Amino acid sequence: MKRRQFLLAAGASFASSSLALKPTTAASNSGASASGPQAASPQLLTAEPIDAQILPEGNPATPMLGYNGSSPGPVLRVKQGAMLKAKLVNAFDQGTAVHWHGLRSDNAMDGVAGLTQEAVAPGDSFDYALSAPDAGTYWYHAHNRSWEQVARGLYGPLIVEEASPPDVDRDVIVMVDDWRLMETGTLAPGFANMHDQAHQGRLGNFAKALIDDNSPVRKGDRLRLRLINVATDRVFPLALAGVAGKVVALDGMPLAEPQDLADLLLAPAQRVDVIADVTADPEQGQSVQIGAPMRDGVYELGTLAVEGLNSQRTASPIAALPLNAMPKPDDYAAVLDIELRLQGGAMSPGAATLTDIWGFNGQSGMSDAPYHRFKRGQWARIRMVNESVFAHGIHLHGHHFYELEATGKLGAFRDTTLVDPRQELRILCKFDNPGAWLLHCHMLGHQASGMKTWLEVV
Ligand code: C2O
Ligand code: CU
Repeated sequence: MKRRQFLLAAGASFASSSLALKPTTAASNSGASASGPQAASPQLLTAEPIDAQILPEGNPATPMLGYNGSSPGPVLRVKQGAMLKAKLVNAFDQGTAVHWHGLRSDNAMDGVAGLTQEAVAPGDSFDYALSAPDAGTYWYHAHNRSWEQVARGLYGPLIVEEASPPDVDRDVIVMVDDWRLMETGTLAPGFANMHDQAHQGRLGNFAKALIDDNSPVRKGDRLRLRLINVATDRVFPLALAGVAGKVVALDGMPLAEPQDLADLLLAPAQRVDVIADVTADPEQGQSVQIGAPMRDGVYELGTLAVEGLNSQRTASPIAALPLNAMPKPDDYAAVLDIELRLQGGAMSPGAATLTDIWGFNGQSGMSDAPYHRFKRGQWARIRMVNESVFAHGIHLHGHHFYELEATGKLGAFRDTTLVDPRQELRILCKFDNPGAWLLHCHMLGHQASGMKTWLEVV
């Protein structure tokens, strides 16, 4: 099948509920919800081979990896301020580790094999216990051979609940992903294909939205949609139809002023929270649609059927979520200005000193010395200069940072930022979380081929 047929096939049949996430153990396993003070038992996360129905029903299943029998793994929910406890059990044949993407938490629990811990060997386990200081939408994923293990399905949603959650009728988790599949349903081999890596990375030929609960909604329902791009390399443009509302958070962090809901663009690992009212009219056969606008039309990634009317809910403006603690730049004089040059890839000269396809500042992969050693509390403005002809989604572990507008005005507070080809972008960060932190491109094929470094906060 050609890619286009695959994508169209996705659109035609996604409404089938069997394609939604299987009900996860989160609801049935008493240890599953790590929320509340009595949450003593850790959530078990067994990384293991699974078969998943990625292609529409009637097509072959796909041998993959999952947590507790499914990909995505269980929905982990923890109350803001509580401890997240999870026990990773490795039941497949490679070393692995779990990273809690976006949590500004403890370095020793960051789950980066080779930097914050050793990879957990097959048959072994690892106990994670970390604080969840920020309410919002996060995710967890494998962080050893991530370009392969994430592509094979090792990820799941991580929700940190507000003390008083916003008033909505449904909270829906929507993970968008793409897979490169063969006609047999198997994942195409060559996870570290050099041609992919030198370009945009491993792009799938089949894409869809994985929705944790796609039972029908009512016209008039207020939804919270938690959109998460879990693809290894694809930047997803997303458009929502059948709802009207606001963007309330980016990368987990609430916006002081909710923004109008327009078309969205999510780099790998980025999240967008939307609160919106269902406007789709069931009388007219309309549904809520999650689509990816492409050059030749909108590909339907997923739908929520609409049945009936919610007559209880009275129209009210969509309010901002309570803000998480965000560092406020108080002393600009003390800001350190440093540079991060994004180099390499096909069709651009690249730095002569790169030993792999990609690199930062002339260096491919991890060096002995950190990219920078920050004194705890140091503010730094990092000018990211993309010298390549590809986009990069740059992710900093353990911190969120401000994107800076051209004028220097503070933009969104994120953990992953999309730097367009041949563009520059400045971020401003307070390095206040001690430890050794990874800084890398979340196009995991780029990370695999040199686009990563680390920094230290002491
Ligand atoms: Cu989402 Cu280095 O990770
Ligand atoms: Cu990249």
